[in-house]
Amino acid sequence: MKFVLLLTVFVTVVTFANAAEPILISDFEGTDYGNWKSTGTAFGIGPAHGKLDGQMPVEGYQGRGLVNSFMGGDNATGTLTSPLFKIERKFITFLIGGGGWADETCMNLVVDGKVVRTAAGPNTVSGGSERLEPAAWDIGEFAGRKATLVIIDQRQGGWGHINVDQIVMTDDRGSVPIVVPPVPVARNVIRNLMIEKKLLHFPVKTGSKHRVVTVSVDGKVVRRFDIELADEDVQWWAPMDVSEWTGKMLTVIADVLPVNSKALDTLRQADTLIDSENLYQEPLRSQLHFSPKRGWTNDPNGLVFYNGEYHLFFQHNPYGWNWGNMHWGHATSHDLVHWKEHSEALYPDEQGPMFSGSAVVDWNNTSGFGKDGKPPLVLIYTAAGNPTVQSIAYSNDGRSFTKYSQNPVIKQISGGNRDPKVFWHELTKQWVLVLYVEAPGKQHTIHFFNSPNLRDWKLASITKGGIDGDKYLFECPDFFELAVDGDVSKKKWVLTAANSEYAIGTFDGASFTPEHSRLADVRGVGFYAAQTFSDIPNNRRIQIGWSQAPSPGMSFNQLQTLPCELTLRTTSDGVRLHREPVKELEALRDGPNQANSLATFRSELIEMRAEIEPGQAGKFEFILRGAKISYDLKEQVILVNGHRAPAPMVNGKQNLVVFVDRTMLEVFASDGLTYVPMPFISKPQDQSVLANAQVGDDAPNIRLQVYKLKSSWTE
Ligand code: FRU
Repeated sequence: MKFVLLLTVFVTVVTFANAAEPILISDFEGTDYGNWKSTGTAFGIGPAHGKLDGQMPVEGYQGRGLVNSFMGGDNATGTLTSPLFKIERKFITFLIGGGGWADETCMNLVVDGKVVRTAAGPNTVSGGSERLEPAAWDIGEFAGRKATLVIIDQRQGGWGHINVDQIVMTDDRGSVPIVVPPVPVARNVIRNLMIEKKLLHFPVKTGSKHRVVTVSVDGKVVRRFDIELADEDVQWWAPMDVSEWTGKMLTVIADVLPVNSKALDTLRQADTLIDSENLYQEPLRSQLHFSPKRGWTNDPNGLVFYNGEYHLFFQHNPYGWNWGNMHWGHATSHDLVHWKEHSEALYPDEQGPMFSGSAVVDWNNTSGFGKDGKPPLVLIYTAAGNPTVQSIAYSNDGRSFTKYSQNPVIKQISGGNRDPKVFWHELTKQWVLVLYVEAPGKQHTIHFFNSPNLRDWKLASITKGGIDGDKYLFECPDFFELAVDGDVSKKKWVLTAANSEYAIGTFDGASFTPEHSRLADVRGVGFYAAQTFSDIPNNRRIQIGWSQAPSPGMSFNQLQTLPCELTLRTTSDGVRLHREPVKELEALRDGPNQANSLATFRSELIEMRAEIEPGQAGKFEFILRGAKISYDLKEQVILVNGHRAPAPMVNGKQNLVVFVDRTMLEVFASDGLTYVPMPFISKPQDQSVLANAQVGDDAPNIRLQVYKLKSSWTE
């Protein structure tokens, strides 16, 4: 009796003391599976030692043995079932790899005949890795119950196997991640809608899973895109123009969706944007720069002056905050300053998404697309499908666009051929098309084509765009002629690339001859893919670039820089591109120069001009809305929020022009030789300008102008 009691106490104490000790279910170090039961052939007669015949190297398992159902290759199937065990800890941790097919290549925890937990490997597409990764299940709710583990391989073909090792029950899973239970999904979820309004709005939640949406009318697919659909908790609404199908039934199919997703139920029709009460006044909406109402923009496209309007087309993802679904968005302006956004100009089609390109006015109607004796507007773009080709579209009213029925006009040269820039070459009386072609071995080349009519193109020459070694000009070429120092008898051709590097040289209508190595141009951050306007009266050469300035948390993202006028001027290093913001921007000035009342000056949007004769001062700085712009006289270097750029003085002076907006600032120095665009998220409360914050012995002589600016948005 005494003995029995003692023993009971002893057992209790032992159990208690061991409560946190992990329990090993199996580490598969034996020569066979012990009391686990195997069916089929995939698991062989016992644990594998690393990779099996024909398998990629297997890593991440512990010791020598592991479960590896590649026995006999991917086509073999089978199951491996553990003996019954009691759930006595909070977690089961394990290592798992191989196929990622729910129900088919997985390990299940079965309690009372029901699968209560499941985990699969990470791989479903070719490539991938055979590495096993740690994972855990939280099993606390099943404490005291009996369970089995079933490792399943019922999949044949690619990644039709599963790898498992080191199965442990434990109260402490450390940093091992809990397996996220797979959400049951449905394929091809359908919603039919009768179109009654101009816009159909899709619910978006940036960061959620990408879904493929197909929209059909009369049994024909009319739109297809990728979208981060909000299953619930809509963050913003992405509009799709459906006005052309008014009165028709539209079928929207989403693939795949969680079975309980509300995404398609919440589709909304309206004639205007949803949540547009504060359109263009959103906290991170820049006020001097163009950005789309909704969605993402990158490169400016097809910049052209047509029928008295400036057209700004732009790479646009109408359905997402990030890059994708490339359309040509469209906006127009009468003054380069106030922009009005229209419907999409080019939608993705069977040839692929609409990548970057240019536009021209076909004054002599060489293309035959003109109507009623008026010249057509012709867009030349890359359709980036497989193959990737160059195609054209035209318009007779600057609003609606028709794709040429015989597209493409240039077939694929290499998968990386894109971004056609077209212009009329007056001397040789023909069209010229400048195309970026990524040649084999990732070499960058620029191909020149000629055409009499914008439809038929002949290769004329290939250049690398500079005379030095193996470094060539990159994508998004632009090509134009400029007078040197304003002297029209001394003109030079300029070839620019997306990263703003450029070459100056001569052009005979067929080939470009650079006169020197590539030159660096823009000195800021996030400036890319700039283009200049075609067909502007008075030969002004005006450029807009993509500014990679983000607007986190907004329903739109990225913007276009201020329009700048380009000139070629002689410097001590030779002829160089210069840039100044167009004079039309003066229309945004809200009142007179405020330089004499800086102490009380407050403005969100600022233009500052400073003409500086430095005297003995070593350095000086300006602080605009917290952004620090300082100039080091000795080094002749400008620092914009710590970012350095060379900025030589010109005739003993430094001329600075600064524009400050909500998400970017632009600094022009050295009479426009140095351009420093800079993403910058301003603080709403910080609206002051500190000028002439002198650093050094002697005050520089500064002629200052500071203006409050108005928003350029008028809608
Ligand atoms: C440059 C670029 C182009 C391409 C476009 C696609 O930013 O990659 O070369 O046409 O963007 O959006």
